[in-house]
Amino acid sequence: TNRTFTMLKPDAVENGHIGAILEKINASGFRIVALKLTQMTTADAQAFYAIHNERPFFNDLVEFMTRGPIVAAILEKENAVEDFRTLIGATNPAEAAEGTIRKLFAASIGENAVHGSDSDENAAIEGAFHFSGREMF
Ligand code: GTP
Ligand code: MG
Repeated sequence: TNRTFTMLKPDAVENGHIGAILEKINASGFRIVALKLTQMTTADAQAFYAIHNERPFFNDLVEFMTRGPIVAAILEKENAVEDFRTLIGATNPAEAAEGTIRKLFAASIGENAVHGSDSDENAAIEGAFHFSGREMF
């Protein structure tokens, strides 16, 4: 069993999709280990997405991710990182498989409803970015 980190992004929260997405996450066999509604500051988003800071979409990404609250969560399941990325689908919802969270709930590559960690190492770093030890169960 291992863990991944996710955020339901501002578009998903604005559109009222928190419940439906969490339901799908639970139905897919993930256990919620940590969960909260929070909003990232500009400095938070710049740090969280530092790996993308040379990319042309970086400023748009930071503006988007800070424009409203997100739901941050840590999820536990066997093979969590890979299975969660399968569940959310391709970065661009136009290319995401049928039934994936991005296919169902995302509008564009920039506003794609959900984040999923891309490695066990980053899952641990990203989880610790948002949660203290007392908030993980
Ligand atoms: P995350 O789970 O959010 O990390 O998405 P990902 O791993 O599928 O994609 P990646 O890490 O490469 O990019 C991070 C985020 O940057 C994406 O989820 C998008 O929100 C945004 N992004 C990536 N590519 C583009 C792009 O070409 N244009 C815009 N506007 N945003 C992009
Ligand atoms: Mg990524």
